[in-house]
Amino acid sequence: MEPVPTQDGTPTLVHPGYGEAYHPRQGALLQARRLYLEKTRTHLHPAPRVLEVGLGLMVNFRVALESALERGVHLRYLAVEKEPLPPEVLRQISLPLPRAEAVFGELLAVWPAEVFRGPWGELRVLFGRVEALSLPKAWATAVYLDPFSPRVNPEAWEEGVLCRLRLALRRGGRLATYSAQGAFRRALKAAGFRVHRVPGVGKREWTVGIAVEAPPG
Ligand SMILES: C[S@@+](CC[C@H](N)C(=O)[O-])C[C@H]1O[C@@H](n2cnc3c(N)ncnc32)[C@H](O)[C@@H]1O
Repeated sequence: MEPVPTQDGTPTLVHPGYGEAYHPRQGALLQARRLYLEKTRTHLHPAPRVLEVGLGLMVNFRVALESALERGVHLRYLAVEKEPLPPEVLRQISLPLPRAEAVFGELLAVWPAEVFRGPWGELRVLFGRVEALSLPKAWATAVYLDPFSPRVNPEAWEEGVLCRLRLALRRGGRLATYSAQGAFRRALKAAGFRVHRVPGVGKREWTVGIAVEAPPG
């Protein structure tokens, strides 16, 4: 896999099996900041706890980490990943985030690791499929839902998974995703989220779900 530049100058990869890029062509870093970090308000939270579906190239993780390091807050990040990439591939994906890149370099020396800690906080990785793993209850302040599209990763967007993500979120927590698909949004509502359409960058709309209602069942 060879890195491909996106329009903000940061690199992505294309998954050889799905033929889909890990990030939009408008910008890997741009999406991580504007959608996942900011639409979930992770950048404002005094003690963010992020649950991510699809750790991928760790762009979202590094953006959340840079924000936490700049603000001097402790980050707890729990990611689910079914196809972890080897360190030699990840090493090619460097980002203009000086503080986070220093931590990323240490992480690559031990990757793949289930737990990685530092004075900045903790990254835990559940290696497996989100639909088959158990998730913590009322733990997360934010959910980053970032699998490949519902066309190629349908299992990750199903109502059963969304209900478990709702249970993993604290009340008032936010889920963000790039998908604006109708069936997905209906499933998100059925899972107990208040669903908002938000203007996207390079895409007409993104989706934010706020954990207001208790999940059904
Ligand atoms: C779009 S990429 C994620 C990019 C990543 N968030 C980043 O910041 O670089 C999608 C990732 O989701 C993972 N994935 C897809 N379906 C999954 C599932 N059912 N369970 C766990 N991980 C999944 C893929 O292996 C891939 O690494």
